[in-house]
Amino acid sequence: MEIKCEFSFLSDAKVDAVAVLVFQDKNGLGQQISALGKQLGEKLQPAVSLKDFSGKKGDVLSLYTEKSIASPRLVLIGMGEPEKLSLEKIRRGSAAAATTAQKMKIASLGIEFPISMLSAQSLKAAPSDIAQAVVEGAVLSVYKYDKYITAKEDEKKLESLTVFTSDKKRLSEIREGVRRGEILSAATSLARDLQNAPSNEIYPETLAHHVQETAYKHGFKTTVFDQRKIETLKMGGILAVSKGSNHPPRFIILEHNPGKVKSGTVVLVGKGVTFDSGGISIKPAANMGEMKMDMSGAAAVIGAFQALADLQLPVHVVGLIPAVENMPSGTAMKPGDIVRHYSGKTSEVDNTDAEGRLILADALGYASHYKPDVVIDLATLTGACVVALGHLATGMMGNDQETMDAITIAGETTYERVWQLPLFDEYEKMIKSDVADVKNTGGRWGGAITAGWFLKNFIGDYKWVHLDIAGTAILEEKMDYAPKGGSGVGVRLLIEFLKNRK
Ligand code: BES
Ligand code: MN
Ligand code: ZN
Repeated sequence: MEIKCEFSFLSDAKVDAVAVLVFQDKNGLGQQISALGKQLGEKLQPAVSLKDFSGKKGDVLSLYTEKSIASPRLVLIGMGEPEKLSLEKIRRGSAAAATTAQKMKIASLGIEFPISMLSAQSLKAAPSDIAQAVVEGAVLSVYKYDKYITAKEDEKKLESLTVFTSDKKRLSEIREGVRRGEILSAATSLARDLQNAPSNEIYPETLAHHVQETAYKHGFKTTVFDQRKIETLKMGGILAVSKGSNHPPRFIILEHNPGKVKSGTVVLVGKGVTFDSGGISIKPAANMGEMKMDMSGAAAVIGAFQALADLQLPVHVVGLIPAVENMPSGTAMKPGDIVRHYSGKTSEVDNTDAEGRLILADALGYASHYKPDVVIDLATLTGACVVALGHLATGMMGNDQETMDAITIAGETTYERVWQLPLFDEYEKMIKSDVADVKNTGGRWGGAITAGWFLKNFIGDYKWVHLDIAGTAILEEKMDYAPKGGSGVGVRLLIEFLKNRK
């Protein structure tokens, strides 16, 4: 979809439909309607007096404009009360505009920059942040993974989105926000595409190819270690998990180094299990197909690097992706096996389905080479985290409260919300092993936390935050601007966190 930002009055916007975000107003929409112009006022009054549209959250009203304005259609989107406005409500409002336009099968949609929302007390956002939210909501809501559908119905896709404004003074700021929105939606869509791709298309080697292609197109560095190199480095967790599969592992390194930086290196680690069958401790058949998305952490890291490069953010960031396929076979690792990880520490494989932590242990050890200030890992790590938080919050653990607070704030802004779980010392004994340094399961209770404790055993001397995205990355049904399937969670969160870093 082409995304533009133009100077235009509502009446002059040459698009198939113009959308306007409208507040709920005790005084019957009077002000905003007269602001829409005389011609429209006549059309709007009956809808308002018949209470077809009151600006309530979720209200959508489509009108035909005849010759009064350039666009033949006007779509009003209810935004609810001005006191409750947030960036997320703006995303959802523009998502409603875009999905309405999509249903009308039109090619071009214009959304008026919601200038009235700048003065909303509850929001306190810059014009660029609002413009960014408008684009994110619209673009992400019409995302569809249809690469493999041959009989594409008569569905016509929205071809262009124009954010327009008649505010000359703020035009450049709005334009900047539109550009950021475009970059972040594209990066999130890339993450979704990688997640939704089936495991016969994406396995460790092809995942590495995708990274190389993205690096080449957008401008960041990448290095890929093959199995031989992984063996020389003694990354025992990666080797153990991948040895049941016919697909060899890869260790993928990404680097964004803009030269002049203000702060220390950040390492992002993404779990890249391209399919998780459970291995010898095999999973039940129901919904096993979802486990093609067990590389969602990797997808988030790749998407974040695309955005980092496009935005030219002044931070040094390294990405590490251990990529494997977890399969049962005659060569697969077995319960009871003992693995020696990159750091030299050992772990007992109690359950081959707790494979994510085994590969992350190697990556967390390797991260120390970069003398990072902060390491953030993202992983679809535990079903227990989904039980605890559902699909609405990412589970967060770590050893540095300040970094976790900054991620929490980034989560509120982007609405990729996180919720901290405790890493109390007393949980650690649950993963004690009789035969190795640690065991890869912690029993029935507190599964997200014992997984976090396992990882904590392998971190180096750096600040560390673990994000369990098992619930937020894989959606069983659609949300406001995300369809069922891969959500692309983490991309916008990471960029917001990195952008705010001093
Ligand atoms: N990839 C799964 C976790 C998962 C489950 C992600 C559901 C998304 C949705 C992970 O590798 C796994 O299998 N974890 C086990 C750990 C257990 C064996 C200790 C789990 O959560 O059951
Ligand atoms: Mn598993
Ligand atoms: Zn897994």
